[in-house]
Amino acid sequence: MKKLWLAAAIGSTLLASSAFAQSAPDNSKIVVAHRGASAYLPEHTLPAKAMAYAMRPDFIEQDVVMTKDDKLVVLHDHYLDRVTNVAEVFPDRARKDGRYYAIDFTLDEIKQLSVTEGFNIKDGKQVQGFPERYPMWTSDFKVPTFEEEIEMIQGMNKTLGYDIGIYPEIKAPWFHRHEGKDISKAVLKVLKNYGYTDKASKVFLQTFDFNELKRIHDELMPAMSMDVKLVQLMAYTDWNETMVYDSKGQAQPYSYDWMFAKGGMEKVAKYADGIGPWKPMVVSDESTKGNIKLTGLVNAAHAQGMQVHPYTFRADTGRIPAYANDFNDMLDIFYNTANVDGVFTDFPDRAVNFLHNKK
Ligand code: G3P
Ligand code: CA
Repeated sequence: MKKLWLAAAIGSTLLASSAFAQSAPDNSKIVVAHRGASAYLPEHTLPAKAMAYAMRPDFIEQDVVMTKDDKLVVLHDHYLDRVTNVAEVFPDRARKDGRYYAIDFTLDEIKQLSVTEGFNIKDGKQVQGFPERYPMWTSDFKVPTFEEEIEMIQGMNKTLGYDIGIYPEIKAPWFHRHEGKDISKAVLKVLKNYGYTDKASKVFLQTFDFNELKRIHDELMPAMSMDVKLVQLMAYTDWNETMVYDSKGQAQPYSYDWMFAKGGMEKVAKYADGIGPWKPMVVSDESTKGNIKLTGLVNAAHAQGMQVHPYTFRADTGRIPAYANDFNDMLDIFYNTANVDGVFTDFPDRAVNFLHNKK
């Protein structure tokens, strides 16, 4: 509830702050396949990415984490236990908190694991996160490397003649750096090796970590003669999405509050080409059918020349907000009423069809 209250407060602040420009910097709306076609096949597997590709989104997303031997793999969590059988294959390798960290395993070890549809443990049993989705532990899926996925997308760009981009997210750079790993530098090196070097490249590089975004913009990219498009993901402070280590080495939540206040978008725009907010940061959950309340965030970002790509659009039971009639209505509210430039969705086929039919 705190999040909803904050969203409403943020909206008032932004709306009251100034007269923002009304048009997007780029009128062509995009679809980002969130973790691939993750509504239909296990997230971040190569089959889910190939299926997403066939649906012809503009971009396919990769969440990227690092292994013990400094390889980059595509996984949403920096843990292995939500989507693999790591607890069965390596039962003694959990940390004290009970989690299996990707950074504690070599790529060779991770390649021994099977990937499944995501699950949580409840009363000692695996419970599928999205029960209507792909059945757990069927067929055989693996964790791909970042390079394997890029090669597959670029390979299909060649064979099919499309120009589908990549949208990698550097996961928890604050954690990786604390563990002695410079994941951002490694991600940039791979991007450069595969030809993603400048603003014209079909890539958006995203992270929740503002300090790291600044470092990428001010230090890493200039040192590597790179200048790709950057996206600042937005979270609420109490999600503990980004942490900072204090002088005693204790991790404390990074405060995102300034991003939502007057002048926040101006500061972000010094480093980023776009923002990736959570949906309620754009359309207030206090909205009702016929009374959509915009927070003002889109106009604030557009006024600074940034694109806005909110996450995550899902059509599963219970995932359509009360203010929308159905999935298409939700897309209409965001693309047309809120004027966002793109959406992250687990259902890329449906967003592509929506935009196509609108044209
Ligand atoms: O990166 C955009 C969106 O994917 C952020 O949420 O948690 O799915 O990475 P998450
Ligand atoms: Ca992501």
